[in-house]
Amino acid sequence: MNEQERIITGREQDADGWQYSLRPRRLAEYIGQNQVKQNMQVFIKAAAERGEALDHVLLFGPPGLGKTTLANIIANELNVNIRITSGPAIERQGDLAAILTNLGENDVLFIDEIHRLSKTVEEILYSAMEDFALDIIIGKGPSARSVRLDLPKFTLIGATTRLGAIAAPLRDRFGVQCRLEFYKPDELCFIIERAAEILGVAIEREGAQAIARRSRGTPRVANRLLKRVRDFAQVAGAQSITEQVADEALSRLEVDKYGPPHFADHCKNLWRRASGHRNHCGSRKRRKRYYRRRYRTVPYAAGAYSAYAARTHSHTRNIQVSWCALSEGGALI
Ligand code: ADE
Repeated sequence: MNEQERIITGREQDADGWQYSLRPRRLAEYIGQNQVKQNMQVFIKAAAERGEALDHVLLFGPPGLGKTTLANIIANELNVNIRITSGPAIERQGDLAAILTNLGENDVLFIDEIHRLSKTVEEILYSAMEDFALDIIIGKGPSARSVRLDLPKFTLIGATTRLGAIAAPLRDRFGVQCRLEFYKPDELCFIIERAAEILGVAIEREGAQAIARRSRGTPRVANRLLKRVRDFAQVAGAQSITEQVADEALSRLEVDKYGPPHFADHCKNLWRRASGHRNHCGSRKRRKRYYRRRYRTVPYAAGAYSAYAARTHSHTRNIQVSWCALSEGGALI
């Protein structure tokens, strides 16, 4: 991989390469996230009618819910090119300058894990986002000078699992901010059926439901489980994935109704660790109450309904912590 590829090749693409063929390419194919989808449809149409670049978009939410997919879809719907990179891949200001100066008019730049951008890179991103210009310093010492480079109008799509880790000045420069929610079981069921059709494997509704129930509200997990269940079905000579086939395969994979093996325990430990860093203040009694509440939300975080827990829970920061915990344990299967 050369230097340019290192910077603009999404790391996630390599790990999840197989997922690409299963990913929807247009908004109409995208299942779930209805509010985000409907709003994006309006913003995309409005920008296209004006012939302008779409305003910058920030996508946030737990891992595996389709932030990268959505970024690709937005570019497809706008009929523009997309460049994909990630926060940790952009090490120097020059890396970002190289990417930005190579964009075409109205193109999309997708930065995954945008919360991991370094401070120096983040600083030059501000003027790029706001004024479509880059102010970079060339040289060192007394001979150093500042050069302003004009950039094409572009749309930055940033994705993060940790909204709270993004500095307010960066966050506020995104005109469109969308939170992705965990998927409901019936949405996951449609996603599994769609993926099965693409993979050319027959699946019964009950089979898809059995997989959906164990997918933690996450399409990435659902697709991964589907592929493993397909292996079991194929080797057992099953004509299609029935509920029984799915149940047997998933229990052999030790995936219980909450998802991957020992997920709830794992999550609880991560939770304890994550929450231990925070909220040291307050009386012992208050702290105990705080932790009790946190533990109560863990099974929700593990299941499909954490989005609802997140919305109804007064401690929204807790959910942020659970997202960190989930992303730390993201590669559980
Ligand atoms: N594959 C992964 N996520 C999907 C989604 N939201 N809709 C359809 N297929 C998907």
